[in-house]
Amino acid sequence: MEVIYDKKSFLIENLVENINEAVDFIKSKTDFKPRYGLILGTGLGGLAREIEVEYELKYKDIPFFPVSTVESHQGKLLFGRIGNKNVVAMVGRFHLYEGYSMVQITFPVRVMKFLGIEKLLVSNAAGGLADDMEIGDIMIINDHINLQLANPLIGPNIDELGLRFPDLSEVYDTELIDKAVKIAADKNIRASTGVYVSVTGPCLETRAEYKFIRIIGGDAVGMSTVPEVLVANHMGLKSFAVSIITDIGYPTEKVKKVFIEDVIAAANKAEPKLTMLVRELLLSME
Ligand code: HPA
Repeated sequence: MEVIYDKKSFLIENLVENINEAVDFIKSKTDFKPRYGLILGTGLGGLAREIEVEYELKYKDIPFFPVSTVESHQGKLLFGRIGNKNVVAMVGRFHLYEGYSMVQITFPVRVMKFLGIEKLLVSNAAGGLADDMEIGDIMIINDHINLQLANPLIGPNIDELGLRFPDLSEVYDTELIDKAVKIAADKNIRASTGVYVSVTGPCLETRAEYKFIRIIGGDAVGMSTVPEVLVANHMGLKSFAVSIITDIGYPTEKVKKVFIEDVIAAANKAEPKLTMLVRELLLSME
């Protein structure tokens, strides 16, 4: 595993310069113009194989990009087409539990916006809490609760990126949610809509925590996505996010262990369904 900590680090005050440096570097390598940004977390690797790749860049070569330290996540940016749609896809993402800051883990979203994307599509693996959830289900995220108790927008607001106090009434685009629900029904894909609760990880939850998350309104819980969509929302990007339910959080006396190997296996098994859903959604966009 290669971990690079000696890249130039950035200060929030230099954020826009740093974004521009990364963007200039990417533009010096490819003139491909993406319209849609994808973050392919656990369970959407299959979508990467659907991309007719025009150009590929490793995170470690891009200025200021962190590098994935998680084995199940590769670290590359793919530029190419799915059908007639120009996409840039992050294959592998960053998490708070890797030790990166909120600003670092969301840096690539800002870079994708500066590269011209108009919408962001995100996937993740999550623990299921809603009553009838089963391993392998898909949950289309329609709202979230941020239990990471941190926010990538803390610090001086950069007005050219967005507002100081962004409205969060539609973080997940309603039109995209409705389209995805319809596609899932048409394709016979079992999918619900629900609230995603973000936690820092890396520990999975205690039974009391699963219970708590359910009580406060969570349908699924995971360690990513919220920072990325907060930054996207700040910059006026419409977001769509979807979870693969890889384990069930039992809030009862039943003790059932959750192992990361099972999470990855469940995600891989559900991957074709999710790939189909996101592909169709993308193709349905104007
Ligand atoms: N909890 C938190 N994150 C997760 C889980 C979970 O149960 N499953 C997959 N990611």
